[in-house]
Amino acid sequence: MRQNVAESTPRPHSDGMAAPTASPPLLHCTNVHKAYRLGEREVPALRGATLSVDRPGYYAIMGQSGSGKSTLLHLMAALDRPDQGEIWIGAKAVHKLSEREATLFRRREIGVVFQQFNLIPTLTARENVELPGTLAGEGPAGLHSRSTELLARLGLADRAEHRPDALSGGEQQRIAIARALLFSPPVLFADEPTGNLDSASSERLWSLLAEIAREQKMLVLMVTHEPAAAVHCKRVFVLQDGRVKTTIETEGLDAAGVAARYQFVVHQG
Ligand SMILES: Nc1ncnc2c1ncn2[C@@H]1O[C@H](COP(=O)(O)OP(=O)(O)O)[C@@H](O)[C@H]1O
Ligand SMILES: [Mg+2]
Repeated sequence: MRQNVAESTPRPHSDGMAAPTASPPLLHCTNVHKAYRLGEREVPALRGATLSVDRPGYYAIMGQSGSGKSTLLHLMAALDRPDQGEIWIGAKAVHKLSEREATLFRRREIGVVFQQFNLIPTLTARENVELPGTLAGEGPAGLHSRSTELLARLGLADRAEHRPDALSGGEQQRIAIARALLFSPPVLFADEPTGNLDSASSERLWSLLAEIAREQKMLVLMVTHEPAAAVHCKRVFVLQDGRVKTTIETEGLDAAGVAARYQFVVHQG
């Protein structure tokens, strides 16, 4: 019998901090700096952020408001470029992408979801999910079967023909996730995806993201300020003043345990 060689999991990497060479970590940020210019003033957002993930799974970034979480996610998703430092996703040097390359990269190689669902109100759930494919010029037949599968996978099979305003916040966010997964990217970034959801919908979404990471062997990296979310993740990167101050391994911790570690880290000074 033939072995299934279509294995998407990268080989484990014993030295996560090494420069990405033959066996690159899935995600690798080194000494990333970014400042925003506000007139005369420079607002430093990242001041040497370094993090590395060498296996697929569900990971969190936590940090106080203004610590640079969204900026880091934006740079990793090639929505902006760092002033200094390197960002690698697999063998791709994200920090060096031209605008055109970045557009293709975002469309095909990663998925991104935000707190605002960013759905097109005049399109149905299905049309929203298919939109990146439609824009890329794909024919309807293949798109239809993939959107059907994704909508079912995210518990939205009976919502396919609804427009966003007829759906709950949790359902709208699941559509945004289905859309982000259309091209089966190895990496999904989420910036406070449950920021607009009630706690029951939030719990459901966190579980769903954990399942997706496990079943699709994906890297899911989520910015959150909620310890209850971080519990679903295997590791938390704690950002403070634009740097990754520490990581928290969540195994064996409940939400209170994560909250206690996190509070300890951010108030250590
Ligand atoms: N577009 C921008 N222009 C100017 N300053 C910004 C901009 N975006 C973020 N900042 C500043 O950069 C710092 C980090 O912001 P951000 O990455 O949004 O943090 P977080 O997501 O952790 O709240 C903050 O001081 C914020 O005010
Ligand atoms: Mg933010």
